[in-house]
Amino acid sequence: QGPLPTTFTDPETGIVFNSWGIPNGGSQTQGGLTFGVALPSDALSVDANEFIGYLQCASKDATSTGWCGISLGGPMTNSLLLTAWPSGGEIYHSFRYATGYAMPDVYTGDAKLTQISSTINSTHYTMTFRCQNCLHWDHNGQTGGASTSSSFMLLGWVQAFPAPGNPTCPDQIAIEQHDNGMGIFGAVLDENAANPSYTAWAAKATKTVT
Ligand code: HEM
Repeated sequence: QGPLPTTFTDPETGIVFNSWGIPNGGSQTQGGLTFGVALPSDALSVDANEFIGYLQCASKDATSTGWCGISLGGPMTNSLLLTAWPSGGEIYHSFRYATGYAMPDVYTGDAKLTQISSTINSTHYTMTFRCQNCLHWDHNGQTGGASTSSSFMLLGWVQAFPAPGNPTCPDQIAIEQHDNGMGIFGAVLDENAANPSYTAWAAKATKTVT
């Protein structure tokens, strides 16, 4: 898919997302990956610092495992990284930050993820979540961010087949370099990205998995 979004209404929650997908079956990744964002109603004129995200990633061969990541700045380096993986019927996450192409550090800023819904089946794991303090970042004084008022975000994605080691201790996961594709894409935000129902949707984010 190119930078133009697909408007997608999540059947589980009714939340309307601008979404972008890396298709299954392409050379890039097996199983496909979809990422969507819903934004506060004024986010296309005033930079938001939070969003509701939709993340669907692929597992290999009906194993219900793997991990995937989104770079909220595009590249792996100097961006807030969200890593997610299924384990024991839950989807765990860890915010990370990398200054080089090696295992990212635990992010030191105050990003916060609360889940609205999650599903895990034999081929995919899917989570809708509120991500607060996620669009401006500060990792030990290294700052950056995304500007929703520009109606454009640069995003990065990766996914991997092996399950992380220490899956129930997000600060201590053990992973190796992603092996099921990676990329950077421009994500144009259209008027469907920002929604007056944002506050009501965000209030559904009540579940913390730690
Ligand atoms: C790209 C290594 C974990 C996100 C890359 C590349 C390397 C690398 C070498 C560039 C490959 C190329 O251009 O051919 C690693 C290692 C990791 C790790 C060794 C852990 C041990 C992560 C995690 C995330 C992530 C946890 C996100 C949550 C990305 C993204 C790219 C990328 C988005 C593509 C964009 C770019 O090239 O900057 N990684 N990575 N990586 N990585 Fe990682």
